[in-house]
Amino acid sequence: MSEMSVFAAMRTLRAVREFTAEPVSDEALRTILDLAVCAPSAGNRQPWEFVVVRDPATRRAIRDYYVQAFQRYRQGVLDQAAAGHPTAQAQVARWERAGAPDRYAEDLHTIPVFLLVCFDRQRLANREDDRAQMTADPGAYASIYPAVQNILLAAHGLGLGAVLTTLHLGYERELKHLLGIPEHVQMAALVTIGHPARRYGPPRRLPAWERTHYERWGQRPPQN
Ligand SMILES: Cc1cc2nc3c(=O)[nH]c(=O)nc-3n(C[C@H](O)[C@H](O)[C@H](O)COP(=O)(O)O)c2cc1C
Repeated sequence: MSEMSVFAAMRTLRAVREFTAEPVSDEALRTILDLAVCAPSAGNRQPWEFVVVRDPATRRAIRDYYVQAFQRYRQGVLDQAAAGHPTAQAQVARWERAGAPDRYAEDLHTIPVFLLVCFDRQRLANREDDRAQMTADPGAYASIYPAVQNILLAAHGLGLGAVLTTLHLGYERELKHLLGIPEHVQMAALVTIGHPARRYGPPRRLPAWERTHYERWGQRPPQN
């Protein structure tokens, strides 16, 4: 297994949606999950629970829900683009150029590993009666997404590819039933992991300094 520097990993991390059929070893998965749990969480409550799915029939069932969610999402974006919404129009243009999210959805079940990253609301709650409140608390998600980012970086560092997805959450109830996940455990992300089918260039992002305000909102930072 190769390793890369943390800066190099962060600078080259991409959402990988095209994979070969090559399997992902349990050794690699263990490394990824050991690094996932190095992440911070509120009060160090460590609410994470991971469900690894390799079974073809289960991956197919998850894929079918994902495709439905993706089609609804895509229709929403298309409607917004038609109504003149610039962000939606940019998204449609990207789909027309790459097409990757469509193929990704259709072929989802062929990706070797589905990693469902969940969090246990009971471990985040301060008191018994906090449990319901934690469901809606954005802090709950803030205690799981650092671990998700570690998963993406660790997979990338091992030469694997992954993408964080959330569209399946529209069918969270059905998926929890499918996987036997208890009521107090909530899904945060589906991360699909495999060997990238191609090389990916660096991520295209807006320059951070252009999005930075100095001392007060609207004041530009030093330009040199
Ligand atoms: C909160 C969140 C939810 C996401 N949900 C999905 C998803 O459901 N499906 C998907 O294909 N990508 C999903 N993504 C991946 C983003 O589309 C991707 O990270 C972004 O477009 C940047 O891609 P890049 O790293 O290749 O530049 C999600 C990313 C985040 C952070």
